[in-house]
Amino acid sequence: MSLIEAKGLRKVFRQAVKEPGLRGAVKHLFTQRYVDKHAVDGIDLTIREGETVAYVGPNGAGKSTTIKMLSGVLVPTSGELRVDGFVPHKQRMENAVRIGAVFGQRTQLWWDIPVRESLNLLKDIYQVPEDAFRRNLDAFVELLGMEEFIHLSARKLSLGQRMRADLAAALLHDPKIVYLDEPTIGLDVSVKQKIRSFIKQMNRDKGTTLLLTTHDLGDIEDLCERLVIIDHGRIIYDGSLQAVKDAFARERTIHLQLGSELAEPSLLFSDLPEVGMDRTGPYRLAIRFDRFRITASEIVKRIISQADVADFHIDEPNIESIIRRVYEGSLDLELAAESPVAASREA
Ligand SMILES: Nc1ncnc2c1ncn2[C@@H]1O[C@H](COP(=O)(O)OP(=O)(O)OP(=O)(O)O)[C@@H](O)[C@H]1O
Ligand SMILES: [Mg+2]
Repeated sequence: MSLIEAKGLRKVFRQAVKEPGLRGAVKHLFTQRYVDKHAVDGIDLTIREGETVAYVGPNGAGKSTTIKMLSGVLVPTSGELRVDGFVPHKQRMENAVRIGAVFGQRTQLWWDIPVRESLNLLKDIYQVPEDAFRRNLDAFVELLGMEEFIHLSARKLSLGQRMRADLAAALLHDPKIVYLDEPTIGLDVSVKQKIRSFIKQMNRDKGTTLLLTTHDLGDIEDLCERLVIIDHGRIIYDGSLQAVKDAFARERTIHLQLGSELAEPSLLFSDLPEVGMDRTGPYRLAIRFDRFRITASEIVKRIISQADVADFHIDEPNIESIIRRVYEGSLDLELAAESPVAASREA
């Protein structure tokens, strides 16, 4: 069953245009000029229960605006939107108990009271039963390492501590869906790791549906199976992460540890001039190849015909370089959408 259903969802902001300087400000008082900013420009998005979706795009693409509409904070300009059957901005209470949201840029904790008290207040607001509250709190404190700061007020927390506290606050009432808007922004690697494994565990154990925006592509690789790319308020790709990798990461590298020297290295790939071979150390080779031209197993077979192979591994394609090329407009995403993996998801 689909949990989030958006059709033709739009948000237009009226932005005032001002000329620079004092003269501009004065003139603006009398003759106000506006432009319409189509922040979200007609998106169709269906998310099923338990899915993990990365919602990515360049700065200003419309990601946060989308999430704010899904959370009921912003009223859509037009289009249809239902979250678990409810219209978020109209049925706010029904919506609120179903969702948890973390906006990395700001906190939902009370600034001046200890985190523990904030969580207590949220328990009352969401009417979380006492035993569920205990269970969740104990688990969150342990998984997120909150012991050292749960007695402090939010204003005293470091960024990484605050983010963990915010995550706990958002998930305390066992929401079906979590929206995370840049939850790992500015965090060190170990806190990032804690947050990621926590989210993974929530998805695995409770089937929590996840919609995540991030500029940290490690988050995506670690957490999400589905990738939605938005640009200028429109969805330009929606499919599995694997499909994007398969379609675009044609170039792979295989690293080999040899047990003896190659007999005739120049003959190995004389029929495939695009295959690149680098010596990366004594008895070590890195071979770059286009996987549509030659398979990894064929490469290994050829090497074995000339030398002993002690060990080898293949680099996973890197989503970072792929997404950069998408943003720069140098990749045709239709290709990935047409791949068999994407097609099977649609089915
Ligand atoms: N309240 C607002 N009033 C006017 N314009 C807005 C408002 N909120 C957002 N916008 C505009 O809408 C566009 C989309 O903004 P949004 O915050 O959704 O982008 P984003 O994809 O989250 O970007 P980022 O990666 O930088 O967080 C931007 O051009 C922004 O200036
Ligand atoms: Mg944003």
